[in-house]
Amino acid sequence: MNHFQYHLGQLHAEAVPLSRIAKTVGTPFYCYSTATLKHHYKVFTSALAGLDAHVHYAMKANANIAVVRTLANLGAGADVVSEGELRLALAAGMPARRIVFSGVGKTQSELTLALREGILQINVESVPELKALNEIAMALGVRAPVSLRVNPDIDAATHVKITTGRKENKFGIEWTHAHAVFHMAAALPGIDVVGVAVHIGSQITELEPFRLAFLRVRDLVLMLRADGMTIRHIDLGGGLGIPYDPDMAEPPSPIAYAEVIRSTLADLGCTLLLEPGRLIVGNAGVLVTKVIYVKEGATRTFVIVDAAMNDLVRPAMYDAYHEIIPVIEPAAGANRSLMDVVGPVCESGDTFAQQRPLPPITAGDLVAVGSAGAYGAAMASSYNARPLVPEVLVRGDAFAVVRRRPSYEEMLALEVLPDWLAGAR
Ligand code: LLP
Repeated sequence: MNHFQYHLGQLHAEAVPLSRIAKTVGTPFYCYSTATLKHHYKVFTSALAGLDAHVHYAMKANANIAVVRTLANLGAGADVVSEGELRLALAAGMPARRIVFSGVGKTQSELTLALREGILQINVESVPELKALNEIAMALGVRAPVSLRVNPDIDAATHVKITTGRKENKFGIEWTHAHAVFHMAAALPGIDVVGVAVHIGSQITELEPFRLAFLRVRDLVLMLRADGMTIRHIDLGGGLGIPYDPDMAEPPSPIAYAEVIRSTLADLGCTLLLEPGRLIVGNAGVLVTKVIYVKEGATRTFVIVDAAMNDLVRPAMYDAYHEIIPVIEPAAGANRSLMDVVGPVCESGDTFAQQRPLPPITAGDLVAVGSAGAYGAAMASSYNARPLVPEVLVRGDAFAVVRRRPSYEEMLALEVLPDWLAGAR
């Protein structure tokens, strides 16, 4: 469910016509809906009702501070993976005690900052990281609250680039080593072992991989408890998929996902941490772009738009499907013909949709690329020296630019000619 719907023939974000935002902000731009963000957060948390479970929104999906504050105001915590995300979370007003730090390559300075800020937990993914963190904590005179992320060697049956829980993947501590590493961690004076963490991948559309991974975590917790260790937290990561294509079967609901949690882990008496990203923000955002030209190729019609793969890389990177929605509602029964929707970047991969049945489109029209709230702006780059596109947040009939488009002057200001080139031409 989302709040991007036609009203009086125009696509709106809540009560704001997207064409009105385009007029003020220019295109392309990302647009997020507060009501959809809230709705998704509530659907997810209600599914978990009765469990001692807390949501730590995975900021990598969308780290815009207005989005993060909206979720923090609802009670969400955050899952961060870099010093940048940690700083953004704090700037958004996220209390440090609700922040979890994940990632396979946290640097010493990142770990130091996390300990100084007093975050809830650090998810450690290797023995070298554990040792480094122990040293840093001892130097600071604190004990680092640590969950060890285990790699359960479970295939999440998702795109190969976003599956993370198989032993060939770089993530987590090898399943068969986990028991020994927990004991090593418990003996380190700077480490307070608080829990177990797991995350097997993203855009997962079946429940069975979750069930298998959670059962492995369950076995581990029972084994560690039998050894006398106190395990208070279980961090289940994120990964539940969302519908991208209205013609495809819907992924499992949060209620069905919560059922899997209940049946595998609820009786252990641990606090459960969940790190959904895409599920919260994915369908709460669209990328609005303007058609520059419609070009008739030898065998195809190309709709060339002003957004490109640098703004939304998912189709190029994961062959991902995103809906293409004309901002002016097509006439009922409008003829549809097959078109390729492409950006201006000089790569054939710069394609948002191939052979998509679309109603008549002409230069100057606005189209929205659907389900772009997660891993859209967050993964954008300025490839081809294209400025990062602005982000807009809507609430009811109000909208605000929550990240503005940089000017060309600002982009140029980061570049410096070395003295041996300056002046000489
Ligand atoms: N927790 C950890 C440790 C993660 O690595 C991730 C995502 C999440 C939580 C959130 O997963 P989600 O609920 O959003 O599935 N760029 C890719 C997705 C990469 C996901 C990386 N990790 C894409 O656009 O599909």
